[in-house]
Amino acid sequence: MNAPAELPDLSHLWMPFTANKQFKAHPRMLAAAKGMYYTSADGRQVLDGTAGLWCVNAGHGRQEIVEAISRQAGIMDYAPGFQLGHPLAFEAATAVASFMPQGLDRVFFTNSGSESVDTALKIALAYHRARGEGQRTRLIGRERGYHGVGFGGISVGGISPNRKTFSGALLPAVDHLPHTHNLEQNAYSKGQPAWGAHLAEDLERIIALHDASTIAAVIVEPMAGSTGVLIPPKGYLEKLREITSKHGILLIFDEVITAYGRLGAATASEFFGVTPDLIAMAKGVSNAAVPAGAVAVRREVHDAIVNGPAGGIEFFHGYTYSAHPLAAAAILATLDIYRREDLFARARKLSGAFEQAAHSLKGAPHVIDVRNLGLVAGVELAPRAGAPGARAAEVFQKCFDSGLMVRYTGDIIAVSPPLIIDEAQIGQIFEQIGKVLKEVA
Ligand SMILES: Cc1ncc(COP(=O)(O)O)c(C=O)c1O
Repeated sequence: MNAPAELPDLSHLWMPFTANKQFKAHPRMLAAAKGMYYTSADGRQVLDGTAGLWCVNAGHGRQEIVEAISRQAGIMDYAPGFQLGHPLAFEAATAVASFMPQGLDRVFFTNSGSESVDTALKIALAYHRARGEGQRTRLIGRERGYHGVGFGGISVGGISPNRKTFSGALLPAVDHLPHTHNLEQNAYSKGQPAWGAHLAEDLERIIALHDASTIAAVIVEPMAGSTGVLIPPKGYLEKLREITSKHGILLIFDEVITAYGRLGAATASEFFGVTPDLIAMAKGVSNAAVPAGAVAVRREVHDAIVNGPAGGIEFFHGYTYSAHPLAAAAILATLDIYRREDLFARARKLSGAFEQAAHSLKGAPHVIDVRNLGLVAGVELAPRAGAPGARAAEVFQKCFDSGLMVRYTGDIIAVSPPLIIDEAQIGQIFEQIGKVLKEVA
């Protein structure tokens, strides 16, 4: 396989979301990264078709970010964020707000997408309570939704393997919308599929069942990535917004993947023209150089809590590392790069060539669907009889062995490169996947 000559002891590290035994038998080790490429531990160049884990939007090893982090580490390594502040935290919040849709200009910092989701859910509960509607505690997620791994996130999430071990401990007041994935109706859609807006109307059924007065928030990924690239049908998000507004229910967009250019705009909200009440983000906010996340909150929601009846601390929530100085420095440097290099416009411009290259896989062996939006593509494969996911796992391995990093969920291959990619590299990604598809049974 690709094991370097000398490996460290692999036994102590329990790897996240990994088939540990399999990995340790055949390790895939990364050693360095620059621009569009990783270098594997055995010295091969690997084209990054996934921006790490959908997070390195400005490309790897950006000098400005490296310098900002190391400079800040020398000035002040850490500052407590409870009852104390430091200027970079406020500057980073101002910078984040400047990328958000109008009105969502209050920012709470976290360290990850999971924390951002749980923070957003808590803000929703606190908001209703501050307004005297504390009985609004129900949270509505969606089947096949991925909202990280906190107890809140897996409760509103809809991926069964992430839930079943913990099924007795999930949040009690949760319901789920149906997912929107339907190959019979939407296979090989380019951009948003035409069919499926009516699935948002299921929210009215859920509201009729529980009564709006018990529901705090609806949370969805505007475009679901981790669960296999599910693109929202035309009109779907608009309908969710309309129904939630009508019933006084907060709408949370989980933009952990979509914020910062993935679709060719600062946020999916901007891209789709649908503004939620809260946006959960992470990943691209710091180009993944330092763990960081945030929740952008509509000003009225923030004000209801902060100017509400409570005295002293208004919101009993926060992390030791909320707005960590190194994260704040990385965020400021990252957002500066996005703006200076106009990277979201670049993603938008490249999305046509990306779409064309992705759809060139129509007709390739095993392919049953190709779907795309912005710089994201999903290539769905027919599962092997009795072994779901095995074919995509083999494609992933063979791509890695031949110098290309992709991701897979079930039998869906996902591509989501850094926004600095060029047209030739886009072509290379899909040609390589096509070649590998011919090699797998
Ligand atoms: C939509 C969404 N929400 C939440 C998360 C969780 O983020 P993290 O792994 O940083 O906790 C992810 C991670 O991929 C995600 O895609």
